[in-house]
Amino acid sequence: MTQKKKGENNEMGKVAIYPGSFDPLTYGHIDIVERALEIFDKVIVAIAYDAEKKPLFTVEERLEMVKIIFKESPNVIVDSFKGLLVNYVEKTNAKVILRGLRATSDFEYEFHMASMNRSLNTHLDTLFMMTSKDYFFVSSRTIKEVAKLGGAVEGLVPDLIARRLKEKFKLPVGKKKLIGWDD
Ligand code: PNS
Repeated sequence: MTQKKKGENNEMGKVAIYPGSFDPLTYGHIDIVERALEIFDKVIVAIAYDAEKKPLFTVEERLEMVKIIFKESPNVIVDSFKGLLVNYVEKTNAKVILRGLRATSDFEYEFHMASMNRSLNTHLDTLFMMTSKDYFFVSSRTIKEVAKLGGAVEGLVPDLIARRLKEKFKLPVGKKKLIGWDD
């Protein structure tokens, strides 16, 4: 098999699509993007309109936050998509869907999704990266639950997200933590 040079037939080089709800983006997601950039030339963070869950933030709010967070990373493109992921991927230069795996409990859902996507488009592969040990317990769902109940999420999500969560839940923004304060 002849190896393709970087950029050959593909102006952008190797591209991965990292799709998800990102409601909200966590440091677990950011860690996956940063590690993927060691393998791929570009990573497209693609926020889905059509995910199963009822979101806290609108897609527009998430787009704005994620764009700010990656504004210093020229190789990260932040986008949104409607409809099937495979149709969106086809419109890009990507051949790979990237997903993070935290634990075996994620596996069944991911396996079904990857298999369905593969049956819809046999040219597409899903690549899984294990979440770093520091973020095994971090999920957007638990972040929202903790933030809603006044718990501290700083260190698990970027400061911007922590602030926006407090605004959403109408909690005081200035304070660092509501629960777990030392004083
Ligand atoms: O972060 P999430 O919610 O686990 O991401 C799930 C997502 C958005 C990747 C998935 O729901 C998706 O791809 N939605 C787009 C619609 C689609 O293609 N559905 C079929 C997937 S089997």
